[in-house]
Amino acid sequence: MKKIFLTLVLSITGYWTFAQNQVIINGDLGKTTINKHIYGHFAEHLGRCVYGGFYVGENNTKIPNKNGVRTDVIEALKKMKIPNLRWPGGCFADTYHWKDGIGPKKQRPSMVNAWWGGVTEDNSFGTHDFLDMCEQLGTEPYLAGNVGSGTVKELSDWVQYVNHEGVSPMANLRKENGRDKPWNVHFWGVGNEAWGCGGNMKAEYYANIYRQYATFMSDWSNTSKLFRIASGANSADFNWTEILMRDIPHNMLDGLALHHYSVIDWNKKGPAVNYDEDLYFKTMKQALLMDELIHKHATIMDKYDPKKKVALVVDEWGGWYEVEPGTNPGFLYQQNTMRDAMIAGTTLNIFHKYSDRVRMANLAQTINVLQAVILTNEEKMLLTPTYHVLEMYNVHQDATMLPVDVQSADYAFGNEKLPALSVSASRDKNGVTHISLVNIDPSKSQEISLNLRGMKASGVTGRILTSAKVQDHNTFESPDKVKPAAFKGASIKGDNLKVTLPPISVVVLELK
Ligand code: AHR
Repeated sequence: MKKIFLTLVLSITGYWTFAQNQVIINGDLGKTTINKHIYGHFAEHLGRCVYGGFYVGENNTKIPNKNGVRTDVIEALKKMKIPNLRWPGGCFADTYHWKDGIGPKKQRPSMVNAWWGGVTEDNSFGTHDFLDMCEQLGTEPYLAGNVGSGTVKELSDWVQYVNHEGVSPMANLRKENGRDKPWNVHFWGVGNEAWGCGGNMKAEYYANIYRQYATFMSDWSNTSKLFRIASGANSADFNWTEILMRDIPHNMLDGLALHHYSVIDWNKKGPAVNYDEDLYFKTMKQALLMDELIHKHATIMDKYDPKKKVALVVDEWGGWYEVEPGTNPGFLYQQNTMRDAMIAGTTLNIFHKYSDRVRMANLAQTINVLQAVILTNEEKMLLTPTYHVLEMYNVHQDATMLPVDVQSADYAFGNEKLPALSVSASRDKNGVTHISLVNIDPSKSQEISLNLRGMKASGVTGRILTSAKVQDHNTFESPDKVKPAAFKGASIKGDNLKVTLPPISVVVLELK
């Protein structure tokens, strides 16, 4: 009798959660491509991102490197598939004078890194070092030009230096410095956070300045036209987007940026590891806000650019917490837990949803800074939960987005609730469908019923990233505590896919 009762309760509970989590994958409605560039990264001269993270110097005999760039980092990032890398900032970009970072290293002048810790920047990692590193990584460079404290000529010269093939003052200088062929850099940022660290400008003023700078950034290359990106809005500053879309001629504008960090309170950011559920919930609320922000910025862009010529480029996103105790507050070094995996999985699903407009994005930042994919400590290196999400999700790069309808159970905390479930799907060039699912609820698993309409599938395999506690993370002592494993919680019957997602989990499925 007891057994019958238990079976009854379990099946009613199962039925109830299935009933709450209903997803439709529209296999025959795919129209837009998930641009691989939404999987971009960001390397600023900040703390130990460039120095110690990517670059350890040509004379380093302790840490294996090629031209000073860590071999372990190159291998890990290639495996993850890194489509583009933004450099040299961030706020640093508007203080950076690129000519200080070329030529013999011993003769390069030093400067003070005023934004990040006031440390000495010796310019030993400059334009050649970065662009050669991008070639090693097989990634496209995204150079951020100095508008805040630079000049039109300085940026115009930089474009000529890296992209001009024939005889010209800057191409000749590049050749003198040992590089014959141009790099043909496609992606260019015209300043950064012009509303803040990039010059505290008003939108109308920056729109004019942008027009001036963009005019003198010449297209030297026939093969790769410049893709000019305007410094975009801070989170919910919709007026900024409105003015820039209105005042900048669209033939001068390829991308408009947006920055949004999952930060609880800029004055009290909370710890990266020892946070409670209240802080976890608040962070996820900020992360999921990305959906509304993109929707609203994209709506303004639609008004001025209905054909969606101008891309929305979310070139800074991620979690931002207090630095690890005992580390330099100006270095923004933070640990990375399953909370960050939740931010990464849900944010990428949001980007997929808006793939018609969001065609580029950059996680802040790649190594040892903010929501990093890699942490290093001298010769040691570890992959964070965020790394694993990006590596699992790379199957979506350049695939066709399949629209999904998601009805989700709530993740309730206090008097508030968030959708527990986030889902996205795509079909790759070989016709293989992938579905990524996230359950942000830290204590409840989710039974999900997915209707696979407009497609045929007879089998399913998958990988999962999960851990017992949302605070779980990898350390140099225990670098594999959080890592992907084979997923056995999915089954297909006809056009119905049933999935059980454990609490705080990210799953990527492949349909057969
Ligand atoms: O990513 C850290 C900083 O955050 C960047 O330098 C700046 O653009 C933003 O405010």
